[in-house]
Amino acid sequence: MSIKDFPIGVFDSGVGGTSILKELMKALPHERFIYLADSKNAPYGTKPVDEIIKLSQKNTTHLISKKVKLIVVACNTATTNAISILRESHQLPFIGIEPAIKPAALQTKSKSIGILATKGTLSSALFEKASELFKKDINITEVEGKGIVEAVENGETENKDFQKNLKKQVDIFKDNAIDCLVLGCTHYPYIKKDLKILLPGIKIIDSGYAVAKQTKRILIDNKILQDEPKKQIVDIYTNANNLKVIDQIFKNQTKVNCQFLDF
Ligand code: SIN
Repeated sequence: MSIKDFPIGVFDSGVGGTSILKELMKALPHERFIYLADSKNAPYGTKPVDEIIKLSQKNTTHLISKKVKLIVVACNTATTNAISILRESHQLPFIGIEPAIKPAALQTKSKSIGILATKGTLSSALFEKASELFKKDINITEVEGKGIVEAVENGETENKDFQKNLKKQVDIFKDNAIDCLVLGCTHYPYIKKDLKILLPGIKIIDSGYAVAKQTKRILIDNKILQDEPKKQIVDIYTNANNLKVIDQIFKNQTKVNCQFLDF
């Protein structure tokens, strides 16, 4: 068996990283994927940095035990706080998710953009460095998302109280006349339709497509892209009682196998 046949590992604090997995599945139709949803420990965004690093290492070790050839850290909080340590301590390539500040900065006409992300991402040194580059030319409104990850994890985004709470959090983007909003958390694409209603006319930017493109490039550069027409297989493991939420996300796609695993 060649390394090209090995699966791609993907992990997130929970189900949000499936928004990235879906883009990966589109861009890489012949690959196998193993996805870990660490839903038992979600959210990561409010945890101290050392705990985010410990959980990221645990997920990585588990994926490596399943012989993955590359790992996508499908979580902004884990990327911004732990990816450099993961890269230092393991040999295989890692792809991370950074908030798409640059594309927003290039597209804004009002010179005012918004970023919705977790506390862990907004307070990270990596995020600070990335946003610092643009702050002299554009106004950046940062909002810490509260309760959004939990609502997505529990499949409760339609809930009235959640919708009220979301409106309160994002109204400031309208007040500050932003024209581009960056989703800095992989759970947030699952509330994109709600944000479009709350923030009409504002362009919403997430990282999914760019991450899938970058993953393909790294697989090619490392000569580990599956270039034979193999059947795509996707195994999702969750360590919480949320199989129904994941089934709903994939609407019972037959190539996606989902099971509970206490990792
Ligand atoms: C979280 O677990 O708090 C969010 C994950 C992310 O930042 O993408």
